[in-house]
Amino acid sequence: MLRHFLRDTDLTPAEQAEVLDLAAVLKADRWIHKPLAGPQTATVIFDKTSTRTRFSFAAGIADLGGQPLIVNPGEAQMGVKESIFDTAKVLSRMVSVIVWRTFAQSGVDEMAQHATVPVINALSDEYHPCQILADLQTIREHKGTTQGLTFAYLGDAANNMANSYLLGMATAGMNVRIAGPEGYLPDAAVVDAARQRAQETGAEILVTTDPAEALAGADVVCTDTWVSMGQESEKADRAEVFKVYTVDQAAMDQAAQDAIFLHCLPAYRGSEVTAEVIDGPQSVVFDEAENRLHAQKALMVWLLARSGRYDLESGA
Ligand code: CP
Ligand code: NVA
Repeated sequence: MLRHFLRDTDLTPAEQAEVLDLAAVLKADRWIHKPLAGPQTATVIFDKTSTRTRFSFAAGIADLGGQPLIVNPGEAQMGVKESIFDTAKVLSRMVSVIVWRTFAQSGVDEMAQHATVPVINALSDEYHPCQILADLQTIREHKGTTQGLTFAYLGDAANNMANSYLLGMATAGMNVRIAGPEGYLPDAAVVDAARQRAQETGAEILVTTDPAEALAGADVVCTDTWVSMGQESEKADRAEVFKVYTVDQAAMDQAAQDAIFLHCLPAYRGSEVTAEVIDGPQSVVFDEAENRLHAQKALMVWLLARSGRYDLESGA
């Protein structure tokens, strides 16, 4: 059966654990799986800019024996001159995996509906599920597990990262606490989906406007930019609204003593996080960035295997 990864709940808790186990294997032995040998082409299409996603997918596809085809914003006909339906049909005849960073989630959903190869969401306005896999790999490495730990996110609680943290961390059995100002809290539908997932995994979900409530005793503290791609005109207003959610050392000190700090990057020192925290001893942001490579490779291997295009046992 053809499998895609469009939002965090596309993987069941057991499937997410399989992908994370595979990510650890691939981190230890970078070239062990070659599902794209041939080389087959995998395309990574960007409607927004990127550093980590671009380099990690390009390197990862090459590691898997494939040939990455990176398409920069404005280079393809898609969206402006050609429908997503036609694009999905055409690309499926030529490439083995479609990775797409775009604006509306409905775009990647539509691509997946019509593609006959796995489609991966490399960030939409609503979700960034690949980042969550890397974050979970990082938490496993530093804490040994995810189950039962408490994850606190402060800042823009209505953005793609907050949504994906709700779904993805609940899937991993983590208690998820999301703190942001009124007007920038997650949609009820996303919170409901996270609560449903949390019921399966024994996790708890808290959405609050109080940063202290989110931080108290947390094992992982996390934030993201206050100005996501596409929101640049709101920068000044946002700086004011989010100020009390800055992750500084005083905030870290409210979390568990051995708490780690995560940030998907790019980070703005002096806005959502202080330099003292992101460059300090509790920060694991560069492990997190590196794990984009391993986690996404694992995801591609897993999706190709589950879609019947690769045999994990024999490696053929
Ligand atoms: N974290 C992340 O997705 O980074 P890029 O936008 O640089 O790809
Ligand atoms: N929320 C950020 C994440 C960047 C990786 C954005 O969408 O710009």
